[in-house]
Amino acid sequence: MESHLEKQNRDVLQKSFEEMISTLPKENCWGFSEDQYQYQGFWFTPRFLQGALSAQQQFQAQPTDIILCSSPRTGTAWLKSLTFATITRTSYNDSTTPLLSKMPHDVVPFMEFDHAQFSTNRHLGIPLLATHLPYSFLPRSIIDSGCKLIYICRDPKDTFVSLYHFIAGHCKSQNTQPIQLDEAFELFYEGVSMFGPYWDHVLGYWKASLERPDKLMFLKYEDLVEDTVLYLKKTAEFMGYPFSSEEQQQGVPENIVKMCSFDNLSGLEVIKTGRHRETENNIFFRKGKVGDWKNYLTTEMAQRLDQRTLQKLSGSGLSL
Ligand code: A3P
Repeated sequence: MESHLEKQNRDVLQKSFEEMISTLPKENCWGFSEDQYQYQGFWFTPRFLQGALSAQQQFQAQPTDIILCSSPRTGTAWLKSLTFATITRTSYNDSTTPLLSKMPHDVVPFMEFDHAQFSTNRHLGIPLLATHLPYSFLPRSIIDSGCKLIYICRDPKDTFVSLYHFIAGHCKSQNTQPIQLDEAFELFYEGVSMFGPYWDHVLGYWKASLERPDKLMFLKYEDLVEDTVLYLKKTAEFMGYPFSSEEQQQGVPENIVKMCSFDNLSGLEVIKTGRHRETENNIFFRKGKVGDWKNYLTTEMAQRLDQRTLQKLSGSGLSL
């Protein structure tokens, strides 16, 4: 139970946070109920920024932690389910895994939103956490502890289309009006998107993965779609939970891939009817396809975004 003094302290902190964000550059968040604010080069809604600052102050990483990092809509939930199923494969089987009854975001918590769950999950021996924070925002203890990070990214065109639909779906469930797709496109192009500029988010992790390849694994959604079993095996190895040759003979990696497939997860009752915070779970699972941007972007839009990507990633050695 919170004491009077604790409440007073919380109110003071809240007030100073509100004063601080009122000084930041502000933009519409594509019709989302809150605006977004630019802080140290990246865009956040107030709730996410507050979560980021509080994680920076309080989060204590353990060397055994494995942090799944991503921009929104690049395959976070999929990566959560694949890694969770891999790490817990001796504790649960295909019919007992919590992945069948819970949304992946409720199984692997987000560092910046779900502080309270960390100790519980670690206590259960599950070292997985997730974050949408840019690399430069990660709490110092993550770098100092030497824990492992896995980053997933995606073609900016599909990321944009997926993010637009996610926000539009969210607006619908909140009875608010999303902005038009071409308006959102211009904002995304200018870097004004949740946790964006998207390219800067990707580049921060890309550069870190080049500097510390043993600590940061860099994945692309498209590669994961193309050969899920291969990348699952690589990921398991990186995390320190490799599949033994016996497990490989028994088809354990293939079973995990099947269990975590878009068709399987999106068909679950919890995904069809449940909610994660104020968002319906089914909004998180849309099509799970590579190249769906072709159904929404004009050739000119696609070329502009490709051009932007080339320019932003130029000299980095990365292509998307
Ligand atoms: P689309 O909107 O293109 O369908 P995130 O989890 O980071 O929010 O990413 C969401 C994207 O991943 C959505 O893309 C969603 O459909 C897709 N996705 C979710 N679960 C998936 C799975 N099991 N396999 C492949 N893609 C998945």
